Amino acid sequence: MFEHSDTINKIISKRKLSKGIHELWIFNPFVSKHTKPGQFVIIKVSEKGERIPLTIAETNGDNFRIVVKAVGKSTYELCSLKQGDILFDVAGPLGKPSEVKFYGNVLVIGGGVGIAAIYPIAKALKEVGNKLTVIIGARTIDDLIMKDEFEFADRVIKATDDGSSGQKGTVIDFMEEELRNSKYDIIWAVGPAIMMKFASEVADKHNLPIWVSLNSIMIDGTGMCGGCRTLIKNEKDGEIKYVCVDGPEFDGRYVDWDSFMKRLNQYKEQEKIAFERYLDQIGDISWL
Ligand SMILES: Cc1cc2nc3c(=O)[nH]c(=O)nc-3n(C[C@H](O)[C@H](O)[C@H](O)COP(=O)(O)OP(=O)(O)OC[C@H]3O[C@@H](n4cnc5c(N)ncnc54)[C@H](O)[C@@H]3O)c2cc1C
Ligand code: FES
Repeated sequence: MFEHSDTINKIISKRKLSKGIHELWIFNPFVSKHTKPGQFVIIKVSEKGERIPLTIAETNGDNFRIVVKAVGKSTYELCSLKQGDILFDVAGPLGKPSEVKFYGNVLVIGGGVGIAAIYPIAKALKEVGNKLTVIIGARTIDDLIMKDEFEFADRVIKATDDGSSGQKGTVIDFMEEELRNSKYDIIWAVGPAIMMKFASEVADKHNLPIWVSLNSIMIDGTGMCGGCRTLIKNEKDGEIKYVCVDGPEFDGRYVDWDSFMKRLNQYKEQEKIAFERYLDQIGDISWL
């Protein structure tokens, strides 16, 4: 039994990392104990809410950390919660863990909120002895989260599209430069789908494996509905994989990016309606 103060799925702490991106530490001993790098949870904020997947960015004792970017109704709701609030439901850890082992020279790339997802993977890769270069990037200085948290890596390249913090350029620019100048054995890249697509094309040119973490639309997250299905191409044709149980990580060189991105947008109209209705209800969003 937990003490009242240790209510399961209670938000232990909450912090704004940048405009629209918030960090939450959540009390859940089961998730915290069993999580491995690369895994995620599915959260239902309230009884009538939808289930949304979020990467487990870190664990500490009985608590786990998520970093959420407000992009629509459910993520806005999550970001609006306060310390002490209790989430209606948390399922996890879900998905296959990352293949953490010694490879040699590893390049890890995080874009936007993907920086939080890449963090536990980078840390674990370093702990098993890999030489690690990390590239983190965002549009502007305000979006560059966790910029002081990758000090454990051998090198950290911080990039912003507008040069307002770190070096000017996209993570793809710096990735290309790294691969031209140094020899790498494997790459990890997590960020917006379009970034992962371009990163996969660059890796393909250099004949290097690249793990990407697919952020498909999910419902159950346990392999029962196929909502997350994605076409992974092999030499002959293609195979349908369920991102929630077969992934979320795949070699980006084999992902059918066009159909993947099309599926990400399939509920755009309904999402827009739900979001506008929600914004009307809550009014002021200057806190975000
Ligand atoms: C395995 C996994 C791990 C994830 N980890 C994180 C994380 O650590 N932090 C985080 O902030 N987000 C993460 N996401 C994305 C997150 O699940 C979506 O942002 C969320 O479901 C959007 O819900 P919403 O109701 O707020 O927005 P919606 O109203 O559903 O969507 C608003 C807009 O956001 C975009 N969107 C919708 N779904 C996704 C999606 N799955 N991924 C990217 N963009 C989307 C679309 O452009 C859409 O129009 C992850 C997704 C997956 C599958
Ligand atoms: S989310 Fe239902 S099968 Fe993956």
